[in-house]
Amino acid sequence: MEKAWGKEDITILAIESSCDETAAAVVRNGREVLSNIISSQIDLHTLYGGVVPEIASRKHIERINQVIGEALQTAGMVLHEMDAIAVTYGPGLVGALLVGVSAAKAISFASGIPLIGVHHIEGHISANYIENQELEPPFVCLVVSGGHSHLVKVIDYGAYEILGRTRDDAAGEAFDKVARAIGLGYPGGPKIDRVSKEGNPDAINFPRAKVADAVYDFSFSGLKSAVLNYLNSCEMKGRQVCQADVAASFQKAVVDVLVEHSMQAVQECGLKKFAIAGGVASNSALRSALDKACVEREITFYHPSPVMCTDNAAMIGAAAYYEYRKGVRHGYDLNAVPNLRLGE
Ligand code: KG4
Ligand code: ZN
Repeated sequence: MEKAWGKEDITILAIESSCDETAAAVVRNGREVLSNIISSQIDLHTLYGGVVPEIASRKHIERINQVIGEALQTAGMVLHEMDAIAVTYGPGLVGALLVGVSAAKAISFASGIPLIGVHHIEGHISANYIENQELEPPFVCLVVSGGHSHLVKVIDYGAYEILGRTRDDAAGEAFDKVARAIGLGYPGGPKIDRVSKEGNPDAINFPRAKVADAVYDFSFSGLKSAVLNYLNSCEMKGRQVCQADVAASFQKAVVDVLVEHSMQAVQECGLKKFAIAGGVASNSALRSALDKACVEREITFYHPSPVMCTDNAAMIGAAAYYEYRKGVRHGYDLNAVPNLRLGE
């Protein structure tokens, strides 16, 4: 029997197109996903060894209407049943973002349904609300994706304090670059994750970078250079490179830093809840190291399933719900902001 929904239920159509996934979802009350459609362009970009912004934008244009239609259809709903249209408006690739923003504005204008712009990182963090119904702020969240590495104190819904961020490469970017250097190709993260299972994480002692004046900040470019130097020196000495050992040792260096900074942040904030988000959050070594570290410190560890870690629109619908409840509505002057900062 169909459930009778009360008037207080808020149903949001969410759109995400900040990078290489064209995605739309219908989310009820921020936590219940009625549909979550993701059209990935990964196969296309693999041909070029990384995301080609111009191609990403063109593909978003080709796919977005169909993806939105499918999200409504799968949810068994029609547009006028939506309470808001939510869309990622930054950060991300400007041309890619513009496709989602333009589609959302057009739908909102034509239907009169309110428009809500969502920060992509806020979306990643909010993915945790979907699969952990009991999770509520405050908590600390480590956001590690292809474009971002942030340690965030989630003070309340939509209220964030950035404790630390990367000074150079994002964690996922380092995974992707190192994967390319050792011949694994794109996308690097999942490939390094898989190959590392065959390697020795203690084979090579790669550096664990610290940023002198900011304990929670990250720096991954030195680690990436150390891997490249190691590969060059092996080549010069005619030594064979064990791909699995390099992958596992690199991964361990990243994981060690992420775990150490995260645990220090949770403890210094005096909190007992910790969550992870973003594409790199699906890394198996990172998840098990964080799991162990949290158990040792009696911290509750929250993590979305892998499909909710990488880019999707359900997480945007979850974040938008709390913005909606606060009264946030955007006008038709909403624009794509490629370097949008959290909290703006
Ligand atoms: O969150 P996401 O889908 O897109 C951005 O907002 O950037 O993250 C994509 C990043 C890529 O760099 C990819 O290599 C990385 O997440 N990634 C992983 C894994 N799965 C995806 N990194 C490490 N281990 C994984 N299992
Ligand atoms: Zn993302």
